[in-house]
Amino acid sequence: MKFFVDTADTAEIRDLASSGLLDGVTTNPSLIAKAGGDFFDILKDICDAVDGPVSAEVTAVDAASMIAEGEKLAKLADNIAVKVPLTLDGLKACRHLSDQGTMVNVTLCFSAVQALMAGKAGATFISPFVGRLDDISQDGMKLIEDIRQIYNNYEEINTEILVASIRNPTHVLRSALLGADVCTIPPAVLRQLVQHPLTDRGLEAFLADWAKTGQSIT
Ligand code: G3P
Repeated sequence: MKFFVDTADTAEIRDLASSGLLDGVTTNPSLIAKAGGDFFDILKDICDAVDGPVSAEVTAVDAASMIAEGEKLAKLADNIAVKVPLTLDGLKACRHLSDQGTMVNVTLCFSAVQALMAGKAGATFISPFVGRLDDISQDGMKLIEDIRQIYNNYEEINTEILVASIRNPTHVLRSALLGADVCTIPPAVLRQLVQHPLTDRGLEAFLADWAKTGQSIT
């Protein structure tokens, strides 16, 4: 499974990229606003920091304007994935940009038939928002299960399932068990993935016992 980080905080991205565990980045207009600064400068900085796909979202709502924005964004770097919303205009733009060889991430997916439509439109990634479904008492992970089954049924669909709106490590665990292709994860949750209290306690005990030996490896 690929791990993307869901942030526009370039310092955070560089730090996580140094782990070698980061396969890409997703941004959205809210994350850009939170980071502050010039959109294009932020994107160029992120594209320099990671080799994998960097999702950059259009803000137009009609297909022609989305295509124009997408073409401009795609020129920034080879690893830009243009992000479009799951609307009919978004899917038109998706088909057009995808046919030009640009990676497209179709976002704001909340139903399995929406994901089927994005697959037909040639999306590189579909972004189902699991946390926002959980927030309204629906089962976000059931959506991932349904999309996985639908995409498995049709070998002509090459769209990768990019689980978005992740709130906790359990979302990542269940995504991996269901065979999702990518999780885009907030930095804090990404760091949580390696933590376990028994790891901390065990390490503390090993180091205390090692200190008693009075030895040093180096
Ligand atoms: O970037 C898209 C998605 O991951 C947003 O998540 O936490 O705003 O629901 P959230």
